[in-house]
Amino acid sequence: MRFLPFLPFLLQVQIGVAIVPFYPWFSPLWQYEESLYIGPYFNTAKLNRTDAGSAIAAEWVRVAYHDMANADVEAGIGGIDMSIAFELDRPENPGQGLKDALNDFRTIYTPTLNMADSIALGVVFGLVAAGGPLIPFRGGRIEARSAGPLGVPQPQESLESHTDAFRRQGLSTTEMIQLVACGHSLGGVRNPDFADMVPEDGTHKFFDSTQATFDNNVVTGYLDSTTENPLVVAQNATFRSDLRIFNSDGNKTMEALANADAFASTCATVMEKMINTVPGGVTLTEPIEPAQFTVARMLITALVANQTQISVTTRWLNPSSNNKVTIFWTDKLHPDNCTREICSATAKTVSEQPVEPASSAPTILATINPYRFHKFVFNISSTVVPDKFWFEVEDSAVGDEPFIGNNGGQGFTRLDNFDVFLDSVKTLEAATNDSLVFVVAVRKSNRPSKISIDYVDISADAAPEFNPKIDTNDFSPDPSIVPTFEYEFWTAPVPFLFSTYTLTVVRDGQRIVLDKDQLITDRVNIL
Ligand code: HEM
Ligand SMILES: *[C@@H]1O[C@H](CO)[C@@H](O)[C@H](O)[C@H]1NC(C)=O
Ligand SMILES: *[C@@H]1O[C@H](CO)[C@@H](O)[C@H](O)[C@H]1NC(C)=O
Ligand SMILES: *[C@@H]1O[C@H](CO)[C@@H](O)[C@H](O)[C@H]1NC(C)=O
Ligand SMILES: *[C@@H]1O[C@H](CO)[C@@H](O)[C@H](O)[C@H]1NC(C)=O
Ligand SMILES: *[C@@H]1O[C@H](CO)[C@@H](O)[C@H](O)[C@H]1NC(C)=O
Ligand SMILES: *[C@@H]1O[C@H](CO)[C@@H](O)[C@H](O)[C@H]1NC(C)=O
Ligand SMILES: *[C@@H]1O[C@H](CO)[C@@H](O)[C@H](O)[C@H]1NC(C)=O
Repeated sequence: MRFLPFLPFLLQVQIGVAIVPFYPWFSPLWQYEESLYIGPYFNTAKLNRTDAGSAIAAEWVRVAYHDMANADVEAGIGGIDMSIAFELDRPENPGQGLKDALNDFRTIYTPTLNMADSIALGVVFGLVAAGGPLIPFRGGRIEARSAGPLGVPQPQESLESHTDAFRRQGLSTTEMIQLVACGHSLGGVRNPDFADMVPEDGTHKFFDSTQATFDNNVVTGYLDSTTENPLVVAQNATFRSDLRIFNSDGNKTMEALANADAFASTCATVMEKMINTVPGGVTLTEPIEPAQFTVARMLITALVANQTQISVTTRWLNPSSNNKVTIFWTDKLHPDNCTREICSATAKTVSEQPVEPASSAPTILATINPYRFHKFVFNISSTVVPDKFWFEVEDSAVGDEPFIGNNGGQGFTRLDNFDVFLDSVKTLEAATNDSLVFVVAVRKSNRPSKISIDYVDISADAAPEFNPKIDTNDFSPDPSIVPTFEYEFWTAPVPFLFSTYTLTVVRDGQRIVLDKDQLITDRVNIL
């Protein structure tokens, strides 16, 4: 089989018989794909937060339902849109768990992977982390910037009011029973939030004995009357909303959920429906699949010895036992000098999971989708101006011809062709306790008139409301960093806590915007 190496915008790549998706580097789709299958944004460190009592997954699932629960599907109002961040002072949204869950998502905020998508991703990760099913993830949610209507169901309300509320949310009575049973597989009820049900100071009563595992014990315990679910057995019957809901069709739906496989697949369906409930006018992407090949990270630094050091990590899905990746580049100024032999390098290290650096723990999904990471570290002369990188992967799984990874034909390019680039290594070295000093290398023979950084400042935001604001700082030449023959260095400090940034370079009246992810693709490195 032959490949078409330079077909632009080809969104699918054929490998053997399997069709796998390709997501253009730095496109929102690429960012969703990386967030979902690699992290490091939703990593096990977040799931290991220990101050919660309930499983973190429980808090992530509950915050998603409370975000969605005031939706009016027919009117096209509400859904997963982060409006919950503006609704936390309402009696229908009690509890530290909702605030903590939103805080978990703040530091991974980017315009693409915004809080609304993060709330949906939290459900995907939460369920898998707790041993539950994998729900397909679609991106593209849009954030609300103010509260929505009232409408989260509360336990003391009647069955009729709950049925109406779920109908407003686009869910039938059967789906109501299913979604409540699925949600209440995790976590429990806290004394400070519902002292009527859990009177003992500071205690938690879990919905079942396996509150951190996504299983159907909440169903079987209900059916055989061994349950301690407070929403079934509360002393004051007014609060037994799960009992009224579970019993509302004569236990028919609950009996079907007593089968573990049926529970998992039913929950996957209704949870997916929950996270894909979005306001009218929002269009979600296709489900994000793992990409066959991509560049995971590219770090660049100007060395004093007239060399530019490039460190690139690629990732290759479902590797066979033996494979080899070669990187190639072109030289914008001397294309003829740049033969295959001269302008290429082979991988220095090859590793399975976890993704390097080790500090960015992989997500659970990365272990479901096995990747092989190839890391290249090589120097090029600072006089060389590479305008495109691409890769050839030899792997018996793809046949005799190598797989060409060229970002849909565009190559993995740097917008400003190494005349201005974020010096990743110097930036990481310049970090201090309360600010990060961004270091940009500027080719002396092609100086811009201005370089600035726009960053999303999330430090000023205290829960409940989340209104990230954009600040701008200008770079200035910094003689304290020894220039090289080709480059001088400009710096700008950025205070913690910021979440994402872009660099703007102005030269000859032209503005070039370098997206953050074209500079450093590993947020954990800089946060
Ligand atoms: C009539 C509908 C519902 C009522 C009345 C209700 C009520 C409650 C109550 C009172 C709590 C205890 C919260 C706390 O103490 O902080 C709770 C927890 C929880 N609910 Fe619901 N719920 C409903 C539907 C749902 C749905 C549809 C889901 C998800 C699909 C869900 C997911 C959760 C989870 C995961 C927790 C545990 C949170 C934690 O432990 O931090 N609930 N629910
Ligand atoms: C999270 O907890 C698990 C299980 O205790 C442990 O294996 C893992 O190393 C922890 N991850 C982090 C980043 O602390
Ligand atoms: C049960 O709770 C409801 C709502 O708070 C309250 O009106 C009622 O008096 C309580 N009943 C008993 C027996 O405590
Ligand atoms: C449903 O199951 C519960 C718990 O076992 C039981 O109390 C209730 O009577 C059942 N409802 C019907 C209609 O059988
Ligand atoms: C860098 O290149 C310049 C010009 O070729 C040369 O004068 C200088 O000695 C070089 N510096 C180093 C450290 O090699
Ligand atoms: C590129 O090739 C030209 C002409 O063949 C030669 O003069 C020049 O020195 C070469 N430049 C580099 C950077 O190798
Ligand atoms: C790149 O150049 C630096 C400085 O001369 C050197 O220390 C390093 O070993 C070189 N790296 C590679 C991969 O050749
Ligand atoms: C950063 O904080 C650590 C621990 O608090 C301290 O030891 C160190 O001196 C600080 N460094 C700077 C540059 O302020």
